[in-house]
Amino acid sequence: MSIPAAATPDVMEKLVSLCKRRGFIFQSSEIYGGTGSVWDYGPLGVELKRNLKERWWHSMVRARNDIEGLDAAILMHPRVWEASGHVSGFVDPLVDCRNCKKRFRADDPKIKGTPGAPDAQCPACGMKGTLSEARQFNLMFKTFMGPLEDTAAVVYLRPETAQGIYVNFLNVQQSTRQKIPFGIAQIGKAFRNEITPGNFIFRTREFEQMEMQFFVEPGEDMKWFEYWKAQRMEWHRGLGLAENRLQFHQHTDQELAHYARAAFDVQFDFGGTLGFQEIEGVHNRGDFDLTQHQTFSGKKLEYFDQPNNRRFTPYVVETSVGADRTTLAVLVNGYREEIVEGESEGRTVLGLHPSIAPIKAGVFPLVKKDGMPEMAHRIADDLRSSLPVFYDDSGAIGRRYRRQDEVGTPFCITIDGESLTAGTVTVRDRDTLKQERVDAGQLRAFIGEKLAT
Ligand code: GAP
Repeated sequence: MSIPAAATPDVMEKLVSLCKRRGFIFQSSEIYGGTGSVWDYGPLGVELKRNLKERWWHSMVRARNDIEGLDAAILMHPRVWEASGHVSGFVDPLVDCRNCKKRFRADDPKIKGTPGAPDAQCPACGMKGTLSEARQFNLMFKTFMGPLEDTAAVVYLRPETAQGIYVNFLNVQQSTRQKIPFGIAQIGKAFRNEITPGNFIFRTREFEQMEMQFFVEPGEDMKWFEYWKAQRMEWHRGLGLAENRLQFHQHTDQELAHYARAAFDVQFDFGGTLGFQEIEGVHNRGDFDLTQHQTFSGKKLEYFDQPNNRRFTPYVVETSVGADRTTLAVLVNGYREEIVEGESEGRTVLGLHPSIAPIKAGVFPLVKKDGMPEMAHRIADDLRSSLPVFYDDSGAIGRRYRRQDEVGTPFCITIDGESLTAGTVTVRDRDTLKQERVDAGQLRAFIGEKLAT
């Protein structure tokens, strides 16, 4: 019997605790009391997120011949952010409480009344009339380049990776001789001084984006927009996110960003109080960005269409997905607590798609004698050259299975008495709990085949 995660409102709390205990995610600078909404990925977390990014990179860059990769710098010329609209427009309305000093977004539904008015009530301390009027707060982190801390030296930590792609559009196109339509993809850190971050790694101030800008001929943009919407939803399904937890949300005119002609979010149902939330945005950005950069830099960013001997500024269809938010989605999606028939102890399982599981196989000698540990070590060492495996000989075998279930390991290999005489081992499947006897020499192929499906 299984208890689905969405039905348990405290699943996020359980995940925060599991992630710390098992080395997935730690609070940043914890020994100093933590840094607000910044998280560190531990040994298993870094593998999980890396696997996710690898899956994205493979499907977007390696498996296609019409998308090129890029790794642009975080620090960019400050004019980039004037051209992109972030200096003037990347703002949230902020209010603060004069009594408890807490800060809120002015549109926080927990605020009763209009901020600035005497009847407005602070959602934290409950006082009336202490909330300031809303003022615009820019979400970009600022720092200084060089030794002088003056306005001429201001640079920003990028709030999105996309701009690094736009300013390199011609560099990539000309060096690769790509023809339109084609795309540029990159994975990298982005920073936003969010007013109300929270919900673990859902909204943080430092996060990673996986973005792709697809350059198309004007007039072809809506066709490609539909294509990328479908592709990206398929990718999320392929990660194992449950069909009934995924949906599209179309942006209304009020929600559309200043650059967007059309936008859909891929939303995932995080359950509990969060419910359906954006994990990815698919945007038709028209020629907004390239035109802005041409105006601000004075450099042409046009495509030369050789066969038709004409130049034009391409339109852009963007896909933008958060690596951390998707990591949270696969954790929430996979978390389940089960009562196993015939066993007194229940189990916690992370039903991660095998391709992103941090450890692919646990390797256990049934007992610590009779040559079983030696054979188990040989098998673990052999598999380790191609797969992340974990050798464990401590405690009862049931306990060892539970420890791997909890971190999402899809297979557990046990070396028992029969292994020593027949050369076979058992392979236990995390989800079905079925055990198969497999020739030890065939293990690599057996597990490789299972991981490929
Ligand atoms: N270039 C377009 C862009 O940045 P966005 O909708 O602001 O669009 C895209 O962000 C994705 O980045 C989101 O769907 C989300 O997954 C992730 N993201 C944005 N802000 C985030 C934050 N503060 N913490 C974690 N992930 C975030």
